[in-house]
Amino acid sequence: MNLKKKNIDEKPMTILITGANGMLGEECTKLLSDTYTVVASDIHASSLMPDSIIYKQLDITNESHVHEIINRFHPEVVVNCAAYTDVDGAEQDKESAWAVNVGGVQNIVEALKKTGGAIIHISTDYVFDGTAGPYGEDVKPNPVNYYGKTKLESEKVLLDSQIPWTIIRTNILFGNTSHQQASFVRWVVEKLSRFENISIVNDQFGNPTWSYGLAMAIYKIIESGKHGLYHYAGKDYINRFEFGLKIAGIYGLDPTLIRKTTTRALNQPANRPFKSGLTCERIEYELAVTIYSVNEALTAMRGNT
Ligand SMILES: NC(=O)c1ccc[n+]([C@@H]2O[C@H](COP(=O)([O-])OP(=O)(O)OC[C@H]3O[C@@H](n4cnc5c(N)ncnc54)[C@H](OP(=O)(O)O)[C@@H]3O)[C@@H](O)[C@H]2O)c1
Repeated sequence: MNLKKKNIDEKPMTILITGANGMLGEECTKLLSDTYTVVASDIHASSLMPDSIIYKQLDITNESHVHEIINRFHPEVVVNCAAYTDVDGAEQDKESAWAVNVGGVQNIVEALKKTGGAIIHISTDYVFDGTAGPYGEDVKPNPVNYYGKTKLESEKVLLDSQIPWTIIRTNILFGNTSHQQASFVRWVVEKLSRFENISIVNDQFGNPTWSYGLAMAIYKIIESGKHGLYHYAGKDYINRFEFGLKIAGIYGLDPTLIRKTTTRALNQPANRPFKSGLTCERIEYELAVTIYSVNEALTAMRGNT
């Protein structure tokens, strides 16, 4: 089934965005509302959305409420940006991580079976073990932590769903966001602006991804009506320490305040994939999306703050 409406003269599609207060959800809400009727939703009662956006509180683990909202608005597409994203927290509270990342997706799928809509779901490079990245879509997943397991399971829910689905895996998202805890860039900028030293690991590799670029890729998927599994990530394959140095460089801050550390020294509850990240030839070839370098993205972000 094609995600795109057959008759472009019909009223614009309605897109339900879950997790709309989060980093990607906020970016998708801003971008997609230029073209579509967007219903933004998140677990929280309040939101920083402009009044022009329809905002509904929606906990995706609440089955009956998910059905009610999807029945009421009949979205042609649900963009599922809601997730339990605390990688270490997931190790300690497995039940909550599973309920959101797997149960929540099941609830959306079951509701969409009744209304006939499609889902675009966001997954992660953490479905891989990080021994041989960057990874293409055809590599067999093998998660090393519970968060990665729940995200892989969420993908399986869609594979078995018999509704039109698109999965986009991404990694190390960054962007201008109102979501305080979510921003690595803001953390680095704030610390270095106060001349504080920070330590960043130099043994976790990936390709940092501008949330605006991913939101544009999601827009292109909706417009094209494509579905299936895609990877979308940034141009630079670097470690987190190098990412920190790029942030210091673009924001004119002192890079010598950044010290190298190792994942082992942090002693976090969840294992991390080390050589992770994603290759994006499929989505570049099929949808002509733009893949941004970290410096391109940071330069644009700096101009917008
Ligand atoms: N950030 C990354 O580096 C990264 C990398 C790879 C893949 N991804 C994936 O990309 C997607 C978006 O990530 P993000 O960074 O934008 O995440 P985020 O900033 O943590 O946003 C997720 C949003 O979902 C909300 N939420 C949590 N539980 C919910 C529930 N039960 N019902 C409805 N909303 C709920 C969160 O609220 P709370 O903040 O209160 O929990 C938050 O507002 C996720 O699927 C994530 O797995 C992210």
